[in-house]
Amino acid sequence: MKQIAFSGIQPSGNLHIGNYFGSIFNWKKIQNNYSCIFSVVDLHSITVKQSPIDLKNKIFEVAAIYIASGIDIKRNIIFVQSEVKQHLELFWILNCMSYFGELSRMTQFKDKSKRLGKDQSSAGLFNYPVLMASDILLYDTNFVPVGYDQKQHIELARDLAERFNKNFGETFNVPEPLIKDDAKIMGLDNPENKMSKSAKSKYNRIDIMDSNDEIVNKIKKAVTDNVQDVKFDKKRKGIYNLLTIYKLLSGMSENEIEHNFSGKNYGYFKKDLTDLLISEISPIRENTLSILKNKNSIEKILEDGSKKARNIANKKIITVKNKLGLGIN
Ligand code: TYM
Repeated sequence: MKQIAFSGIQPSGNLHIGNYFGSIFNWKKIQNNYSCIFSVVDLHSITVKQSPIDLKNKIFEVAAIYIASGIDIKRNIIFVQSEVKQHLELFWILNCMSYFGELSRMTQFKDKSKRLGKDQSSAGLFNYPVLMASDILLYDTNFVPVGYDQKQHIELARDLAERFNKNFGETFNVPEPLIKDDAKIMGLDNPENKMSKSAKSKYNRIDIMDSNDEIVNKIKKAVTDNVQDVKFDKKRKGIYNLLTIYKLLSGMSENEIEHNFSGKNYGYFKKDLTDLLISEISPIRENTLSILKNKNSIEKILEDGSKKARNIANKKIITVKNKLGLGIN
């Protein structure tokens, strides 16, 4: 029996290369070794206000990007979170075992609620990591392949699994994060902060659905420094970030890359990086567009995936309810 990997992406805003390198890029590599379940986590998206029309479109777009990137629908499950109600059942149960203190310490909640202000920060935003724990624990997940920014949330999922097992007997697998060192892509316009869907400027990120011209422009404008030396130096955050992307795409070592660009200026390096990015991203964009043209087929894939997920999740919820003494059976 293969071990289980579970992960998901929110269908809010445009999926960018930070999301891609933090998740799908690695999912492709692990899909041969694990039994993988990939969700489009739409319930997470409504923790902040969404336009219903955009949300519906993005659910399909994100699923299409998974498939267009090379996630094999025959071997893996791709499903939409809100189609599997068991996530919400476990969410409530785990909420009753999560503490105000531990949820208040979540950095992502602290950042987002600071930005929105107390009166605009929903209870959903506060409880969001518990829903994420429910996603993971329902499927006896062994590994959670994500970007570095989700580490704290996975730690909470582990704590909740251990807490439940201690109080009610062995029920949940305690999941491990699967986070690559370079699963941390910074904003192109501001390499101090992570690349983010919510950053104001479009020059912060490269979206998966960007045209080749947009990719060229955005890399041209990406912030660097005046040193003009193409070296992996963590202190020079702009060039370091671009080099990290180059390393991911080329599969070359840091030494090889530095040797390759020795004596060359940033313009030369940026041109090479742009070519690599376009050759990775543009086939995904084109595949996504063609998958989206056949709405019935993608709907069918998601319905089948959701059915498979529901079967697994339902078994787990029955066990959990029995352990807690809930219900009549
Ligand atoms: P989300 O939708 O914000 O991001 C999706 C994935 O992209 C990664 N990521 C990044 N990686 C590297 N550099 C960046 N700048 C960057 N920005 C985002 C994230 O780490 C993530 O892997 N809560 C999750 C979704 C979720 C989930 C789950 C994930 C819900 N339930 C269960 C795993 C398991 C989120 O909001 O990701």
